[in-house]
Amino acid sequence: MGVVAMVVSGKGGAGKTTVTVNLGATLAQKGARVCLVDFNMGLRNLDIYLGLEDRCLFDLGDVLTGVCKTEKALVRDDRFGLLFMLPCPQFKEINGITPQHVKGLFSLLAGKFDYVLVDMPLGLGETIDSVAAAADLGIIVLTPDYVSLRNADTMDRKLDSCGLEKRYFLINKVDMRILGEGSVPGIEQIARSMACPMAGIIPLDENIHLGNNTGSPVVIASESYVAKNFSNIALRIF
Ligand SMILES: Nc1ncnc2c1ncn2[C@@H]1O[C@H](COP(=O)(O)OP(=O)(O)OP(=O)(O)O)[C@@H](O)[C@H]1O
Ligand SMILES: [Mg+2]
Repeated sequence: MGVVAMVVSGKGGAGKTTVTVNLGATLAQKGARVCLVDFNMGLRNLDIYLGLEDRCLFDLGDVLTGVCKTEKALVRDDRFGLLFMLPCPQFKEINGITPQHVKGLFSLLAGKFDYVLVDMPLGLGETIDSVAAAADLGIIVLTPDYVSLRNADTMDRKLDSCGLEKRYFLINKVDMRILGEGSVPGIEQIARSMACPMAGIIPLDENIHLGNNTGSPVVIASESYVAKNFSNIALRIF
């Protein structure tokens, strides 16, 4: 069975979708079968970061409500080997999804893929509980600022209370120019504050932002330092 990893944060815009896309593409580049699942019901975004907006015919809502089979809703990105995406609905929220539905979906996907990465919405609500019950590990993305750090710790406690024992944190948008000034929490302070191990550090880099906006994930340049960084992060987590 494949590994199901949920990508979360305690604060919006920390980089959950960026991490999901680039980590998933990295694993696929290494030859793994990977499925990225967008769980931001009604606020779809994974498709834009992958440049697959025009290829989404069915979505997670259709799968969970029985409109179509999972295979029909999967969209392949053939730039990265066996990388697939399961989009979520745009505009509509899906009601009546039970933890059993979610568990069924992820056990089906884990039977088909080596890695299933779930791009989670913000918040501590029931969605977290249902996905955590079906996930093998959690990746908590935070940025080096005090609000993000506090909320990442809250999220870590939440995942722990859901029984998700394997958890990592990842520091994104690290700006080396201001890190040493003492006004924002440093890497060591963050590591001391978090109760789970660190999976890595991702610099603030306009190429990452541009990659997201052009639908061309930055790790596509496989020799770049960002790609090597994501490769090391993948080794630490999986
Ligand atoms: N390391 C980085 N360097 C520069 N820009 C980044 C980096 N990581 C993410 N961004 C940018 O920050 C913004 C938020 O990133 P992203 O959408 O991945 O966060 P998110 O946690 O998924 O947000 P949301 O809570 O809205 O789902 C985007 O504009 C993205 O391009
Ligand atoms: Mg997002």
